[in-house]
Order: sequence, then structure tokens, then C-alpha cells
Amino acid sequence: MVIVMGPEATSANVATVVGVVQSAGVEAFVSKGVQRTIVGLVGDVTQLDAASLRGMAGVRDVMRVSTPYKLVSRENHPERSTVHVSGVPIGPGTVTLIAGPCAVETPEQTLDAARMAQAAGATLLRGGAYKPRTSPYAFQGLGEAGLRILADVRERTGLPIVTEVVEAQDVPLVASYVDMLQVGTRNAQNFGLLQAVGAAGKPVLLKRGMSSTMEEWLMAAEYIAQRGNLDVVLCERGIRTFETATRNTLDVSAVPVAQRLSHLPVIVDPSHSGGRRDLVLPLSRAAIAAGADGVIIDVHPRPEQALCDGPQALVDTDLGELAQVMRDFPPLLGKTAA
Ligand code: E4P
Ligand code: PEP
Repeated sequence: MVIVMGPEATSANVATVVGVVQSAGVEAFVSKGVQRTIVGLVGDVTQLDAASLRGMAGVRDVMRVSTPYKLVSRENHPERSTVHVSGVPIGPGTVTLIAGPCAVETPEQTLDAARMAQAAGATLLRGGAYKPRTSPYAFQGLGEAGLRILADVRERTGLPIVTEVVEAQDVPLVASYVDMLQVGTRNAQNFGLLQAVGAAGKPVLLKRGMSSTMEEWLMAAEYIAQRGNLDVVLCERGIRTFETATRNTLDVSAVPVAQRLSHLPVIVDPSHSGGRRDLVLPLSRAAIAAGADGVIIDVHPRPEQALCDGPQALVDTDLGELAQVMRDFPPLLGKTAA
């Protein structure tokens, strides 16, 4: 971190800044120029708040020269990581397909959707038992009964399960049933939940907050990592923009940017990004071409009856094309479908 003092700064201002920095256990190196004085900081600056420093008398600017996230940063961990979910890899060199129903509704619907997912090449099953809904009157998920259905479908298909958890208090229960915990866009900055999933001992799929900057997203991942869990997969799922033609705007640049800033795997959710069935395959191709380590896709045997997000679910007749994307695209990038 570098603190730039304004031309009006007095020696007393500089001394006060140096005192604050040193009291946080950080070394301060003062270099006096003709126009201005620069204070260079060396050490662990995580305890220092850039905004408070910026507010001190005589300070003109505070610039970071390293990232505020440490454990998930690529700066400190140049090799990109692979996260294994009950043996299924998500990381560089592979493209992993996670698919399944948006919500677990019945045992039959979940099994049918799992078989559809498997036919398209999925190696992990998604499905929500706890649904974060905009409306309190909308289907909220089956809760533990849904987790039991997922566990049963895993038994029948062999597909490990990814499911969302929305409350910190439910983390131990959900973790006892599934292979990977998902934190959704609406909870991307629910810090208590992030800490709870970090302590649960299961890999975590962390969606990007719909209005989160890259830094906010990676700081959310840092909360999980700080609890000792580095098995975190980042998921770009579309962000809020002025555009209303799609449910969200897929920020495809988030894939290479996040991969450059962090060693964690990065996947894309084209279903929640576009919010429309006809966009899922084009957005999947775009995601894989941009280097995504996987995609997570909604499928449903009867989307017209779905209790959540039917319009974005792929149907039986889409599966051949999805399987073809998974077969043809990864090799073009020197990868294999995982
Ligand atoms: C599904 O996965 C989410 O719960 C869903 O996208 C929520 O959206 P809605 O409640 O606004 O329909
Ligand atoms: C989901 O994947 O079920 C979900 C709710 O997604 P998001 O958090 O991205 O809206």
C-alpha cells in the first residue's frame, strides 16, 4: 500500500499517518519529494482501512499495490487450483458439466432431471431444496425432504450433489446430505453464512452477487477460505445492468479476469444469466470459449409445470445439442469434459 500526502501536508500530518501505520504492525518508509511526500507500507496491511487513511489530514490518496484478498489470490498462489467434489474435478484442463433441476419438487421429477443431466454428460447433479425466492408466496423448496430426495437420486445415478444453503443455521444439516454447498447470488455477501460454509468441510460453489464487483466477489471467497476451506469454485451467473431483454447480463469477461486474479476455478451459470431456454446453449459456448472450468445448467422434464425457473430449463430435445457442446468445445481449448 502507498499513501500519497498532499502538497499541503505538514510534517505533523506525516508523523500522525506513520504512527497509525506502525501501530498496526506495518513498517512505513517516508520519501520526501519536491512536490509531495509518499509513505510506502511494507508488511501485512489487512488491518489497515484505506478509507480511514484517506480521511486523515494531509492525505491525498491511498493506493493498493497488492490485493486485499490473500488466500484466494493468484498473487500468492500462481498455480490455478482444481477442486474435487467427491472425485469429480473442477479446474484447469477440464470442463465440468453440473446440471439438474432448479428446484427439487418430487422424487420422480428429480430422478428424471438427473437422468437428463447424465445423458447430456453431467458429472454433478444440481438441485435446490432451499430456494431463495423474491416472493414469500413462491415455492420455497422442500427443505430436508428435498435433501433426502437428492441423496436417494445420488444413490441411483452415482451423481454427487450440489445444493444451495440459505441460512447459516442449516449448514450442518445440508452438509450432512450433499457433496458441495452452494451460496447463491442473494447471499453472496451474507458473511455469517460464508463463514459457516467455510467451516463445514465440504467444497463450496460461490455464485457472484448480482451487483458484486470482482473484488467483492473475491472478498466473499476469502471469508470461506479464511475458515480453512480453499475448496471454493467461483460461479459467474450474470449481473444486473440496464438491459432488460435478458434476466441478467452474463459478464463473460469475469471468467478470464477472475482466473487472472484468483487461483480458484471459475464456472458459469448460463441458465440464471439469460433466464431463457434459447440462450442457454449460446451462453454455454461463450463461457467455455472464454475459458470457464465448467457450466451449471437447469434441466427439467416438464418445465411448464416447474415450481421455479421453468422458462430457463433445458428440455429433452435440447440434450443432444448440450452433449455436443460438451463433446466438441473442450478439445478446441485443449481440455477434456470432466
Ligand atoms: C432459483 O434458482 C432462484 O431461487 C430463483 O432464480 C429466484 O428467483 P425468483 O424468486 O425471483 O423467481
Ligand atoms: C440457483 O442456482 O438455484 C440460484 C438460485 O441461482 P442464483 O443464486 O444465481 O440466482
